[in-house]
Amino acid sequence: MTEQVSPASGLHGVVTVPGDKSISHRYAMLASIAQGDSRIYNYSSGADCHSTLSCMRALGIWHEFGDEDGRKVLTIHGKGKNHLEPAVAPLDAGNSGSTIRMLAGILAGQRFTSQIAGDESLAKRPMRRIMLPLAEMGAHIEATDGQFPPLKIQGSQLHGIDYTLPVASAQVKSCVLLAGLFANSETIVREPIATRDHTEIALRELGADLKTERKVIRLQAGAELTGKTIVVPGDISSAAFFIVAALIRPGSDIILTNIGLNPTRTALLDLLRGMGAQIKLLHIEQVNGELIGNLQVKGSRMRGGVVEGATTAAVIDEIPVLAVLGALSEDGLIMRDAEELRVKESDRIETIARNLKRMGATVTTTSSGLEIPGRQTLRAAEIDSCGDHRIAMAFSVAALAANERSAILGAEAASISFPEFYTSLRSLTN
Ligand code: S3P
Repeated sequence: MTEQVSPASGLHGVVTVPGDKSISHRYAMLASIAQGDSRIYNYSSGADCHSTLSCMRALGIWHEFGDEDGRKVLTIHGKGKNHLEPAVAPLDAGNSGSTIRMLAGILAGQRFTSQIAGDESLAKRPMRRIMLPLAEMGAHIEATDGQFPPLKIQGSQLHGIDYTLPVASAQVKSCVLLAGLFANSETIVREPIATRDHTEIALRELGADLKTERKVIRLQAGAELTGKTIVVPGDISSAAFFIVAALIRPGSDIILTNIGLNPTRTALLDLLRGMGAQIKLLHIEQVNGELIGNLQVKGSRMRGGVVEGATTAAVIDEIPVLAVLGALSEDGLIMRDAEELRVKESDRIETIARNLKRMGATVTTTSSGLEIPGRQTLRAAEIDSCGDHRIAMAFSVAALAANERSAILGAEAASISFPEFYTSLRSLTN
């Protein structure tokens, strides 16, 4: 599907974004192995989170969507920790790295063997990072060429480990913690660089005994989880596209409502403010252990800068749209320590550079990042999403600043995390 995106002079209005993708995945899995029903408000509408629900359904857990005074609510009928059933066919994680990596932790602790696969992009994503700690816990996993999906996971009795994460990855941390629910001794995860802590929060919400102290997470063995009512905040990584769109178009003034503001996810806001962004937090509250608030964003003169180290890890999903901002900023943007971008839904270092060049911009790629000079003009182009949702959306934002209408090829990829993206973008630009 091709979307045409016209230049826009400014963005105005109030907008919501889908429920947080990371949090939705976690509750779909945890509510399934909790005792009793969970009612989940604002579950992500993205295809990735539906892949997780389909996998849980294939493992014997029923769910349904209902309507309550116009609010969509997902009910998951959890059966407790030891009542998943073997699936009759290989599980399909679709495009979702979170689904395959985190669910592998649960599957490793079952009394049956599972197979889990996904689409062409997922088949290229590295799995050794979860296979190694799970093997240390006693799991038996086979992968294509020893590291790629499909995975064959033979359930085993697991034991706790003391694991230091070699890559800054919340998916790996979560995989080990989910496996830890099935282990017969304490599981400890040490994080050299802090990553999003939604799994820790969700585990505590559903009753696990989990403590975090100075980037060391300890999960006691034997926890039983209990289902409950959960509200998922809006996804700040989806909001990022509209935040940047408003910043780069002079005169913009938008409000984003109910956005998740967990401090492990808000490095983007700090970074942008440091570059001159006018972003105001209007109202913040805590719901189910997560901060939620409204954001007001105004068109701003952006300076640019350097993104590196722990900051890169904290804004890794926002780098495609930050790259667009970089080209339009005063001083440009240098991104370092971003080698993880090479193993996302596409090789994002390449797909960002290729599409910026199509728009006439100058960009240099390095093995671990990008260097993008500032004060560039973008010209209308045919953009290729390469099947990557964040590339489709980032370059739709870039198209707002081009001289004429651009065509976004493969725009349907946006529905992986944000099916309503183009409708919302139009509502802000009309
Ligand atoms: C995610 C963690 C990040 C992020 C991904 C979602 C999560 O991946 O890029 O979109 O939900 O835990 P890594 O943990 O592999 O860095």
